[in-house]
Amino acid sequence: MKSLEDIHRIAVIGAGTMGQGIAQVAAQAGHEVLLYDVSADMLALAQKLIDKNLTKAVELGKLRAEEKEASLQRIRVAHDLTSLQVDLVIEAIVEKLEVKQKLFASLEAINSPETIFASNTSSIPITQIAAGLKHPERVVGMHFFNPAHIMKLVEVISGADTHKSVAQLVADLSLKWGKKPVFAQDAPGFIVNRVARHYYVESLKLVEENVTDFATVDRLLESSGFKMGPFRLMDLIGVDTNFSVTSSMFASFHYEAKFRPSRIQQQKVDAGHHGRKTGKGFYTYEK
Ligand code: NAI
Repeated sequence: MKSLEDIHRIAVIGAGTMGQGIAQVAAQAGHEVLLYDVSADMLALAQKLIDKNLTKAVELGKLRAEEKEASLQRIRVAHDLTSLQVDLVIEAIVEKLEVKQKLFASLEAINSPETIFASNTSSIPITQIAAGLKHPERVVGMHFFNPAHIMKLVEVISGADTHKSVAQLVADLSLKWGKKPVFAQDAPGFIVNRVARHYYVESLKLVEENVTDFATVDRLLESSGFKMGPFRLMDLIGVDTNFSVTSSMFASFHYEAKFRPSRIQQQKVDAGHHGRKTGKGFYTYEK
């Protein structure tokens, strides 16, 4: 099994909302980062947004200009999955079990059995993602929070076969990156998303039942101490991603009504109103 000192080259798969921040954090910690996405547009956008985040950090006096340049140099975009021979994979692609399983199977075929496979999934049990791989003992959950370059919490999740040393390594690495790791056992939604699901689901129900409108829900919750109301938060997370997480948890909990995905949210997803990343969700944003 690999130890912390063996982790140099990291592949971040998925250059969307989460992959961008994770790649930035890993590069700032000194790793060589290969950023891969099926969409060339997303790769280009990710590079731009990482540059923008680092520039802001320099302006705020949190980072030296040389450190910004060095971090950017350490991130390379990869256009070919077969070039991803690394020490650690951090997967941050679409929240769909079959797509994640297929990706890990392809990466297992071209990497050493020692390579660690971490998933940033919000809700899919690690045991299911690892099922079918030759080496499920090296698969682990490394669940960052949005925005990944700012939020400290990382849930480290062990699946049924995850080797203890793999979970420990990912926790130690998170600490080294200035994060706060918390261990969790494998369950749909782990800790934070399991509890938080009702924040979204109940709020959507209020609007669906015409009890009130979404802006009022946000205003009231924000005035009662929540940093972001549920609708503003869904726009930040990605309405599509949030919907996929709810759908996955609904299925995992054997269709318990309390996890039922919302019709209103489904409609937003269908219309492509995915939140900040598309310029429109519950609210409208300047792109
Ligand atoms: P996103 O939709 O912003 O980005 C996903 C990216 O993955 C897209 O750029 C897409 O082109 C790419 N992609 C899709 N299939 C791919 C494949 N087979 N190979 C390579 N790239 C592929 O999604 P987001 O929000 O970054 O979520 C990614 C993962 O992180 C999901 O598992 C989600 O549950 C999890 N997550 C999301 C959080 C959030 O607040 N958005 C917070 C914590 C975890």
